[in-house]
Amino acid sequence: MVQNKMSPFLKWAGGKTQLLEPIAARIPETYNRYFEPFIGGGAVFLSLAPSQAFINDINRQLINLYRQIKENPDAVIKIVNTLDAKPCNKEFYYTIREHFNKKISSNSFDAECAAFMIWLNKHCYNGLYRVNKKGLFNVPYNNKVNGKSIDENNLRTISSYLQKSDVTINCLDFEAFCQDVRSGDFVYFDSPYIPESATANFTSYTTNGFSFTDHERLAALFKYLDKIGAKLLLSNNDVPFVHHLYSGYHIQPLDVKRMINRNGAKRTGKEVLVTNY
Ligand SMILES: C[S@@+](CC[C@H](N)C(=O)[O-])C[C@H]1O[C@@H](n2cnc3c(N)ncnc32)[C@H](O)[C@@H]1O
Repeated sequence: MVQNKMSPFLKWAGGKTQLLEPIAARIPETYNRYFEPFIGGGAVFLSLAPSQAFINDINRQLINLYRQIKENPDAVIKIVNTLDAKPCNKEFYYTIREHFNKKISSNSFDAECAAFMIWLNKHCYNGLYRVNKKGLFNVPYNNKVNGKSIDENNLRTISSYLQKSDVTINCLDFEAFCQDVRSGDFVYFDSPYIPESATANFTSYTTNGFSFTDHERLAALFKYLDKIGAKLLLSNNDVPFVHHLYSGYHIQPLDVKRMINRNGAKRTGKEVLVTNY
């Protein structure tokens, strides 16, 4: 049983913190196991703290971070605190970014790689995670000298939750990950969104992005999992293509504030929650 509230330790594009209430209201009262194939910052997962869960993301650095927080919280916290103790300027930011990219190139997924990711998330422009064609992190400096990059208590609470509960952490494509879903399990899908318009096409979470074909693959998986008796909840933009892909299911519209966009300014948008129950 988790005593303290947990919240995301990263700022993540599409983070669901502001939508927790409407999402919580749509979560089934009972289910067997919790599955989240596009975990990102994990806002919904951390707020629910399910006792048996399977989480997944295709981003290897992100999954390393969850694993390191579970297994090596002290090492991660120590390295982040050491970085935070140094004055940050442009030169220091780009040095750490280079160290992080060396970790990526050499497949060194360790506590240091996890700590660099947390620190860069706090010091990069808009908390974005964007990579180039080689898979290297290429977000510029945010030009701010910040204080602490982590909430140590929150991180330790998450660590002990991940250790004590039955949480499996995977790094797979969403379709392969969902092969283990059974009747009575609950799946929350928060994939990269279908663009609202041609200019709002923020889908560069990974080297390959998330294409329309991926959205069709996701809709086909949704239909299959519905057939086998899983309980399904999915978020996306309120665009005609989503209504087309999920016609026949319950589609609830939501008004939202947008934090990450081309201008970095707040604006509003329309999203939907799709359920099969
Ligand atoms: C909208 S974000 C999830 C946001 C998350 N719900 C939160 O609250 O922060 C989408 C995630 O999908 C991941 N992703 C992209 N393509 C994927 C794929 N084919 N399989 C699994 N995960 C993928 C991205 O790395 C990203 O973290």
